[in-house]
Amino acid sequence: MNLAGKVNKVLYGGDYNPEQWPRETWAEDMRLLKLAGVDVVTINVFSWAALQPSENEYNFSTLDAIIETVTAAGMKICLATGTATHPAWMARKYPEVLRVNTDGSKRKFGDRQNSCPNSPVYRKYSASLARKLAERYGKLENIVAWHISNEYGGYCYCNNCENAFRKWTEKRYKTIAALNEAWNTSFWGHTYYDWNDIVAPSHLGGEWQHNRTSCQIQSIDYRRFYSDSLLDCYLAEADVLREVTPNIPVTTNLMGFFWELDYQKWGKHMDFISWDSYPWPGSTYARTAMAHALMRGCGEGKPFCLMEQTPSVTNWQPYNALKRPGIMRLWSYQAVAHGSDTVMFFQMRRSRGCCEKFHGAIIDHCGHENTRVFRETAAMGNELKKLGDAFLDSRLESETAILFDWDNWWATHLSAGPTIDMNYPEETFRFYDALARRNISADVIGVDTPLDSYKILFAPVLYMVKPGYREKLETFVRNGGTLVTGFFSGMTDERDLVSLAYPGELRSLCGIWVEETDALPPGKINGFVIKDSPLAGTWKAELLCDIIHPEGAQTVAAYESDFYAGTPALCRNNFGKGQVWYFGARVESSLIDKFCAMLCDERGIKPVFPPQDGIEGVRRVKGEQEFIFVLNHNTVDTGVTVPFACRDLLTDRDYKAGEHYTLPVAGVLILQKAR
Ligand code: GLA
Ligand code: ZN
Repeated sequence: MNLAGKVNKVLYGGDYNPEQWPRETWAEDMRLLKLAGVDVVTINVFSWAALQPSENEYNFSTLDAIIETVTAAGMKICLATGTATHPAWMARKYPEVLRVNTDGSKRKFGDRQNSCPNSPVYRKYSASLARKLAERYGKLENIVAWHISNEYGGYCYCNNCENAFRKWTEKRYKTIAALNEAWNTSFWGHTYYDWNDIVAPSHLGGEWQHNRTSCQIQSIDYRRFYSDSLLDCYLAEADVLREVTPNIPVTTNLMGFFWELDYQKWGKHMDFISWDSYPWPGSTYARTAMAHALMRGCGEGKPFCLMEQTPSVTNWQPYNALKRPGIMRLWSYQAVAHGSDTVMFFQMRRSRGCCEKFHGAIIDHCGHENTRVFRETAAMGNELKKLGDAFLDSRLESETAILFDWDNWWATHLSAGPTIDMNYPEETFRFYDALARRNISADVIGVDTPLDSYKILFAPVLYMVKPGYREKLETFVRNGGTLVTGFFSGMTDERDLVSLAYPGELRSLCGIWVEETDALPPGKINGFVIKDSPLAGTWKAELLCDIIHPEGAQTVAAYESDFYAGTPALCRNNFGKGQVWYFGARVESSLIDKFCAMLCDERGIKPVFPPQDGIEGVRRVKGEQEFIFVLNHNTVDTGVTVPFACRDLLTDRDYKAGEHYTLPVAGVLILQKAR
């Protein structure tokens, strides 16, 4: 990513916590990490307690020594501000820094991300620490990035947060009357007379249990507010760092599909996006791919980097299986294929105590290089050296996009009815998955991303339509775009106030109106038959079934059973030069596969590599050059046919068009060719 102009290869390394070890170990660390090809370390992630042992005392001697050690070893530094855990003295002296749980209980010291984001004390001291670090180390040549805090998250319901929430609502709604209208407070007599009547919707207020709440908009607003509160903590540090060291890019490590924070909003304030990828056991490669795409999309074109992954094993999953031989390399290249300009790990040396003592690291407890994991990491590190800057600064180009919107996630999951099985990320994934398995490049975008470069936009469960988005969609479709949406869309405005005829703002675009929606419990299905079309087949309909009246749209399929048999289940509407597809019900993945294939054919969108089970093809583009990553996710060697003349950057082998090659298990090709 050319961090501060200081990088000319894919950076390799990650979290390094030498403060957990005696100094004698550090020299051996440097020997081993160099052997592994590590050239960047993220340091100081959890060092606040050491740096500021009491309110008026700072001590940088250990950090000075760590920086000297890694600098002498020729490494670049991603310097963390260390503010994810406040020091114990602070909790003792200023209990306001400790969070309050949703049941009203006050937390005690002893966890990370345990600081109240609206505590003035926390804000003041975290920003001061950032300033001291910037002033002390900002001139060092080898600092490539600031890493603020670590994996922001969690909730707090303390008085400071409640007061800040009142101010936030006042700023948003301006008058108490506007708030009462937006929150529809005449329902159940919740009318507020004064801003001070407003409370944080904890389990003591309007939330009953996880995601069940009496006033959804209040709960949505608390989530908006809380994401903003943590963002303000990030910005309090970022502002200081940018003031003192304007040339060092600033980031924090995100976590993919993370419920609590609206990362698309955060991305606007980050100089590059970085994230931590820990796929769940049994998860498919397309899920990881979508998480990369979501994270990359938060940067809207900014550089993108993999800040953490485990070299071998995690400790926090229920069953922590080892990454099989070759998988760390495969997943590293998958991140790079999806745009990452780094391959980084948590962590360099496995710790001895506490909850991450069984988490994988490049250097294992045995402390030497004669391990499978070390050999694999070292081989990867040396391969990245060889690749140099070949595809740095290249980008992905996609003609399709999936809309993912945090407000929609919050609103649909907090919704009381029509079903508890609504899973917004899952509904968006179903389309991404179909495209990914066809090797069709798809971006994952938010509502602010311009649509003009796309031919198809998938916006399933577009429940909440924010101001201006209807116009944006209409322009997109009128100019020839294809929009795919469906059930539980166009239901509300951004205040979660329901449109008085569904799908509300999307009604003329979709050419339908929806009278009722039937929620089917698990195991209960409706269905439909499609004849004489690429979508031909007998298909199941489940989860939600909209009962639709066409208003200009064509009926492509009609329900086959129940009292609404014969009414439209799938509709297509011509709008301007484009088309809108409306899925009235959740359908089987195999229909989505056929549907995506049909649409891509219609719109002339080609796979970047011939689709084949378990073979992922992803393309990065730089100027006139293309880099097609081909990744074998199968558990067996798999034959592929390379359809174009190219050169594999990993082996320097030239391929003729149509040449056959057997990709070993977890094998990777990086095929370079002219566009
Ligand atoms: C996260 C954190 C790290 C570490 C790893 C363990 O990504 O940022 O500090 O806890 O998880 O997987
Ligand atoms: Zn708080």
